[in-house]
Amino acid sequence: MAFCFEKDQLVIASEGFLSVTMQSIVQEIGKPTYVYDLDEVVRRLKHLSGAFTENTTIHYAMKANSHPEILKAVAQLGLGVDVVSEGEIRLALKAGVDPGKVVFSGVGKSKSEIRHAIEVGIRQINVESVGELRRIGEMAGSLKKVCNVAFRMNPDVDPDTHPYIKTGFRDNKFGMDESALPELEEVLKANSEYVHLTGLTLHIGSQIRELESFLDAIQKTLPIWDHLKEQGYPLETFDIGGGVGISYTEENPESDYALIAEYGAAVNKLLGDRAIELQVEPGRVVVGRSGVLLTEVQYIKQTPYKNFAIVNSGMHHLMRPSLYSAYHRVEPIEKYTDRPSMVYDIVGPICESSDVIGHDRSLPRLEEEQWLAIRDAGAYGFCMANTYNAHELPEEVVVSEGRKL
Ligand SMILES: Cc1ncc(COP(=O)(O)O)c(C=O)c1O
Repeated sequence: MAFCFEKDQLVIASEGFLSVTMQSIVQEIGKPTYVYDLDEVVRRLKHLSGAFTENTTIHYAMKANSHPEILKAVAQLGLGVDVVSEGEIRLALKAGVDPGKVVFSGVGKSKSEIRHAIEVGIRQINVESVGELRRIGEMAGSLKKVCNVAFRMNPDVDPDTHPYIKTGFRDNKFGMDESALPELEEVLKANSEYVHLTGLTLHIGSQIRELESFLDAIQKTLPIWDHLKEQGYPLETFDIGGGVGISYTEENPESDYALIAEYGAAVNKLLGDRAIELQVEPGRVVVGRSGVLLTEVQYIKQTPYKNFAIVNSGMHHLMRPSLYSAYHRVEPIEKYTDRPSMVYDIVGPICESSDVIGHDRSLPRLEEEQWLAIRDAGAYGFCMANTYNAHELPEEVVVSEGRKL
């Protein structure tokens, strides 16, 4: 059931267990706090695992939220991770993720990161440029260790999402188009002993709720997979990346489950009878709705033009609204049905006018020292938090089966 209201209190409800109120967490911690519902994370990971063909590995994109308890749950389910730095490889392995289930994405992998990935024996490096493949060749050769690579293709699709999180359009820095293949093949040939091309990979962007762009990208890339396979490359994997979005504007988690199921069925159909190990790299859809950020109203400031509710979490705790004009629902952790509605801009303490959590929000009249929940903050929340203006980082609490871990 995840986050819901019970007797006017926002709680995490888990079937068969006592609900945990946000009020109890506020009373215990008294500071801005991210709260995660681990049971909902697990439910979503299981749903994803069942949505695609049997020969599928889910690689949770840990950049969305790398809390150790979430990584531990991923490892315990026998799933993999998509990482984008040496630091993430280390966190994943520490949490018990099998190195053979780690894929490494990102356009700027350093020599030491590539060396580390090869040394610990990850499943594959997702290659983003010819220069990177050369570097992998050098590092694998000097270590005398085989490294599997997958070419990240840029399918030139333009999904319906914020421009800053589109990654599969021809102008984006990510992936490579077909014209890079001859040079890539030359580098492969020169490093054939230690660098093996075992797959192709895609990731066209994030917070995408229409399936057309995903399917278009896959359809454009499968012929390249077929062509390379015919050339004799030992291709095994096809990685369709992450990117499935969540419904930030409404309390409708079922729509995420339905979208995943529909996506899975459509992808399975596209793959046909190819012998492919499918890899999927979901991040946001796993953790986004599974977290809230609790923040306290410091002041109510009324001007002739606006009502401001100034809270103690701003762009330093949750960057998404300032960075992408992202929408997050905001609501009191206790429902006050007897208070009249007022319209507020919910703003943080940071000395920037972009430090706004939400514009023009209609809420039951707010008061100082009242706590609010910024909903659907589990993805790209804490992991992007910073200490700008020398503020403290928020706290984190993980709840599972009716208790705080
Ligand atoms: C390569 C790659 N895979 C997966 C993801 C996860 O995307 P999402 O959280 O939208 O599922 C990202 C996000 O940026 C990414 O860059």
